[in-house]
Amino acid sequence: MRAVRFTRYGGPEVLEVADVPERHAGPGQVRIRVEAAAVNPYDHKVRAGAMSRGKPLDHPVVTGQEASGVVDEVGDGVTGTQVGDAVFGFAVNGAAAEYAVLHHWARQPVGLGFVESAGLALAAETAERGLRHLDVRPGDTILVHGAAGGVGQAAVQFARLRGATVIGTASAANHDLLRSLGALPTTYEPGLPARVAELAPEGVAGVFDTAGTSLDELIEVAGAPARVVSIANYTAGERGVVVTTGGADSAWDALPRVSELAAQGSYRVRVEAVFPFVEAAAAHRLSESRRAHGKIVLVP
Ligand SMILES: NC(=O)c1ccc[n+]([C@@H]2O[C@H](COP(=O)([O-])OP(=O)(O)OC[C@H]3O[C@@H](n4cnc5c(N)ncnc54)[C@H](OP(=O)(O)O)[C@@H]3O)[C@@H](O)[C@H]2O)c1
Repeated sequence: MRAVRFTRYGGPEVLEVADVPERHAGPGQVRIRVEAAAVNPYDHKVRAGAMSRGKPLDHPVVTGQEASGVVDEVGDGVTGTQVGDAVFGFAVNGAAAEYAVLHHWARQPVGLGFVESAGLALAAETAERGLRHLDVRPGDTILVHGAAGGVGQAAVQFARLRGATVIGTASAANHDLLRSLGALPTTYEPGLPARVAELAPEGVAGVFDTAGTSLDELIEVAGAPARVVSIANYTAGERGVVVTTGGADSAWDALPRVSELAAQGSYRVRVEAVFPFVEAAAAHRLSESRRAHGKIVLVP
C-alpha cells in the first residue's frame, strides 16, 4: 500500500510516498481505508529522531498518529463497529497511509467530513486527560498555557463546557480566536502572574501547560507545582508538576462524547490547511513553524 514514510531521521525532506507492507487489525483494533490523516507535533519529533533516544533507524516508519476513514477490517473482540462505518481515531503510528490500524476510535460526527474529522481524536484526548488531572469543576478558573494550539483549543472548549472560566495564553494575533472560544486571552510575555491576577483576582484552580515554557511563572500562577499539569515540559516533574504522556491515565473513553460534541458544534476543530500525501514535507514544515492555528491534514 502507499504510505508517507521515512527511512532515515531528518528534516521534512526525508518524507516520501512509497509502498509499505499492509497492516491488519489486531484484537481490539479496526483498520480503515484512510480518507484523511492529521499532522501533529509528535510526528515531526519522531521524524527528526527526537524520540529515538539516539538509536539509529533500522526500518521504514510510516508517519501520522490520527486519521479518519471507512472501516474495512474489524479485529477480534470489537463490538459496535462494523465494516463500512465512517470513523476517526488514534493510530499510534502509521496513519498517513492507504490503510491504518486504529487503537481508539469513534463514529464520524454527523455533519462533518473526513478532513474535519481527521484531527478530532488526539487533541481532544490530550485535553480531556489534562482537565481530568486538574479536576476542573463548574465555577473554577483555570489558565491554559498555549491555548491557541490544537490541544489548547480543545482544552479551552472542554473546560468551558465543564462550566469553568478560562484564561488562555497565546500570541496577540490569536487573541480573537481565544475570545471566540470563550477564553480570556493574555500574552506569553514575562509578568504572567500579575496579568492573570488582574483577570482572576481570586486566583486560579489550576494551570494546563501545552506550551512547555515559563515554568516558574506557571507554578506561581497555580500557587503550587502540583496544580500545574504539563503535556509539553517533560522535565517539569522534577519540580513537582504533574507531567502526563498518556498511558494508564489516557482519556480515550471520551471519544464518543467528542464525536457528539463535534456534531452539535460544541467542539470545533479548525482546519488550517490540507495537503496531498506527496506534499507531506510541506505539511510538516507548516506544523513545525508553530504558526498554524488549526489542524494540518493530509489526504491520499
Ligand atoms: N504529552 C502528551 O500526551 C501530548 C499529547 C499531544 C501533544 N503534546 C505536545 O503538546 C504540545 C502542543 O501540541 P499541539 O498539538 O497543541 O501543538 P500545535 O497545535 O502545533 O500548537 C502550536 C501552538 O504553540 C504555540 N507556540 C508557538 N511558538 C511557541 C513557543 N516558542 N513556545 C510555546 N508555544 C509556542 C502557538 O501559539 P501562538 O500561535 O499563540 O503563538 C501555537 O498555537 C506539543 O509539544 C506536543 O508535542 C503532548
